[in-house]
Amino acid sequence: MAKTFGFGIIGAGVISAYHAEAIKANPDAQIAAVADPIPGRAAEFAAKHGGRGFEDWKEMVRQPDVDCVCVCTPSGMHAEHALGAMEAGKHVNVEKPMAIRLADAAKMLKIAREKGVTLAVVSQLRTTEPIQKLRKAIGEGVFGKIVNVDVLIKYWRNQAYYDSANWRGTWAMDGGGSTMNQGCHGVDEMHFLVGPVESIYAKCETVAHSIEVEDLAVALVKFKNGALGHILTSTVTNPGTGNRIEINGTQGTAVLDDKGIQSWAVAPSKEELAKETIDPNAGAGKNVAGGSAVTGFDATGHTLQIGNFIKAIRGEEPLICSAQDGFQDVLLIISMYESSKQKKEIILADMCKGLEM
Ligand SMILES: NC(=O)c1ccc[n+]([C@@H]2O[C@H](COP(=O)([O-])OP(=O)(O)OC[C@H]3O[C@@H](n4cnc5c(N)ncnc54)[C@H](O)[C@@H]3O)[C@@H](O)[C@H]2O)c1
Repeated sequence: MAKTFGFGIIGAGVISAYHAEAIKANPDAQIAAVADPIPGRAAEFAAKHGGRGFEDWKEMVRQPDVDCVCVCTPSGMHAEHALGAMEAGKHVNVEKPMAIRLADAAKMLKIAREKGVTLAVVSQLRTTEPIQKLRKAIGEGVFGKIVNVDVLIKYWRNQAYYDSANWRGTWAMDGGGSTMNQGCHGVDEMHFLVGPVESIYAKCETVAHSIEVEDLAVALVKFKNGALGHILTSTVTNPGTGNRIEINGTQGTAVLDDKGIQSWAVAPSKEELAKETIDPNAGAGKNVAGGSAVTGFDATGHTLQIGNFIKAIRGEEPLICSAQDGFQDVLLIISMYESSKQKKEIILADMCKGLEM
């Protein structure tokens, strides 16, 4: 009979409820324990979702019925909690961003390898059908050579949001602002679709909130495959429009946003042109695939990722978002901050020099 995996959750705040729903939805998983230092919070969570409540996460990860740990604490604590769980021999599913410092992310990769445990990073947008479909098409060359990528990550957050928890909007615990927190998903979608970035030139500024981190950032990007592009992250654009990625190739263009594929225009093939003897530009703008609706932010993505996490532990399939993928996202975001600080283009490989991974 297949093993049932006992899950421990560190942090019982907003996102932990998604992990609880995802674990409960998987027949091979159950909630064994939850930890949160706020008195009564873990017990209340356990009463609602199952398992035993702990105030001390270190005690929780030592429990023999905890095989896997979901890290749902403020971003600045991810590394400490993921490393502690892996040192205790547990598989880890860590919320995005996997860490807020590059050296910590690198250490997480190293410890996962040394301990022989699975380390997954939550990036639930990778699980959606539109992005899978678009990624496949890009890989098959449907849009020709990819030459330009525009990533717009436009959110609105009021000051009350930043004031709602003392870790939000801080360098120490949020690790950044609109880029590290909200931008992490769009940056990951971009990597998933187009691949790694070679260099970046960014401006990150705080324009409309009383916070120490940026609420607006713009970057010029050069991808390893030769494409150019730009990234905009914001929590000052009202109303927020979420994530939007436009991908331009020599044979077509696609636009993906949080509601699905909004545009899919492919130039006609040589054979079609010869047959129809039409203007070679006539196909541009032709929408050959309709929008694909998504229902908004429910626990579906987390549920698919927990399923994938368990299958990856069993060696049945690769992780949808591996620790290496998560590292790439953190590397790009930190390179944006470094570029803005140094007022110069940053080569991402240079940021990794001297890192033990
Ligand atoms: N995947 C997504 O779409 C998504 C969405 C929201 C948040 N997140 C990520 O989830 C993380 C948490 O965000 P949130 O909105 O749930 O925050 P939150 O403030 O609602 O919850 C964090 C919880 O961690 C607890 N905590 C703090 N220190 C702890 C410790 N030492 N041990 C155990 N628990 C501790 C806090 O008491 C709190 O209950 C962030 O890193 C964020 O980036 C991801």
